[in-house]
Amino acid sequence: MQALPLRVRLAAWYFLVLCLAFSAFSFLAFFEVRGSIHSAVDEGLRDRAADLRELLERRWPAEQIERELAAGSSVRGEDDILQIAETNGEWTYSSVSALHYGLKMPTARERTDKFQFSTMDSRGMPLRILNGQLSVADKTYDVQIAAPMDDFYDAINRFRFVLLFSVPMLLLVASVGGYWLSRKAVAPVGEIARAAQSISENELSKRLPVPRTGDELQNLSEILNELFGRLESAFKRVKQFTADASHELRTPVALMRTRTEVALRKERSQADYRETIVRIHTELESTSALIENLMMLARADSGTQMLQLTSTSLNEVLSEIAEPARLLAEKKCIHYEHLLPEVPLRVNGNVASLRRLFLILIDNAVKYSPQEGHVSVVLVPSDGSAVTEIRDDGIGISSSDLPHIFERFYRADESRSRESGGTGLGLSIAKWIAEAHQGKISVTSSVGEGSVFRVQIPLSNDGH
Ligand SMILES: Nc1ncnc2c1ncn2[C@@H]1O[C@H](COP(=O)(O)OP(=O)(O)O)[C@@H](O)[C@H]1O
Ligand SMILES: [Mg+2]
Repeated sequence: MQALPLRVRLAAWYFLVLCLAFSAFSFLAFFEVRGSIHSAVDEGLRDRAADLRELLERRWPAEQIERELAAGSSVRGEDDILQIAETNGEWTYSSVSALHYGLKMPTARERTDKFQFSTMDSRGMPLRILNGQLSVADKTYDVQIAAPMDDFYDAINRFRFVLLFSVPMLLLVASVGGYWLSRKAVAPVGEIARAAQSISENELSKRLPVPRTGDELQNLSEILNELFGRLESAFKRVKQFTADASHELRTPVALMRTRTEVALRKERSQADYRETIVRIHTELESTSALIENLMMLARADSGTQMLQLTSTSLNEVLSEIAEPARLLAEKKCIHYEHLLPEVPLRVNGNVASLRRLFLILIDNAVKYSPQEGHVSVVLVPSDGSAVTEIRDDGIGISSSDLPHIFERFYRADESRSRESGGTGLGLSIAKWIAEAHQGKISVTSSVGEGSVFRVQIPLSNDGH
């Protein structure tokens, strides 16, 4: 059963259930009809027995009664199958047809005073027979009244034939219909499967047809389409990232190649060679930083980069980076200061990553501020979290750029950013680190006034 297609299994079950239902119906109907015919006939026999009693109660002489019985009355019945005998007496009467069918009066042992009904065949005629006794005044009579059943049995047999013939026909028609229905019901599943099969890597924008039936199949198609949507956007991101990464790598490599080619074109002075090598070195430095960033994001994407978190004091992390931060700031004569609370704020953190996160933000703050600007770092507890704010009074970020700055390779001002050595990966790395600490990073900024980056990391339970 398991290996058969769903539509066949459905149809088979349908057929089985129908078979059972129809058979049960046929049996019930047949026995019900037969039962009610018998009770109708029995009722008729009882009526005749009652008429016979009335006749006997008239206390006519035997010959008159016999004449009356032979002459025909309601007692006689249509076929006049009737026998009567005085119990323990001499008098008996048998009608012509009773003799014809060879009916036998019950023997003394078989006699009962209750009416008893039985069915028997005699000379090819089915008979329904009433046996019993009638007591009239001081006398008792054995009576036997019968009715021929041939017409009734013909009707019953016709009914049985109709059942035997029509039930299989009905079953056949219903089963074909059932198979057709289940095929129709299951067909959309096949369609969905075929459509899903045709969606390849290059056609992830394709979607399954959604049947507007409001049922499980519509639901299934919609869920699959959502899945394809997620796959598509994940796939797009990977593609975009690869394209951006190779573009970013190609630029410095091309630059270094040109520099060396120019330098090698003719004999140069010692000083010229030196200058070329220094430039190439600078380029190499930023390229290896870029490669490292790319590797980090790739590891983060694949989920292999799991940060080891230990209880860490943010005060310590921020104090430790004060020195490199100052060095960064000094180059542009920027005033750097930090403000830390007296009690250390502890979080579940990874020291190296946290350092990197804050340096990325401080580096940006310095980079996107004019000479003589101000950069400050403030750490405060707030609502079970440690909040670190990195403020600057630099160029700010326009509201059209703001939603995008955490995207990979996004730079508000390509030209300026490139010459200041940025690649647009800093903030995406910062965001990943914050999230790896169950934290959030957010920004408020206005053009020309400066920016505030806010990193919020939950305090660890043991943290005070
Ligand atoms: N403190 C800031 N002030 C102004 N703009 C900023 C600041 N920090 C980031 N940005 C903008 O966000 C962009 C993305 O930042 P980031 O990911 O660090 O890349 P980049 O390598 O360019 O610094 C930057 O190019 C810059 O336009
Ligand atoms: Mg940056």
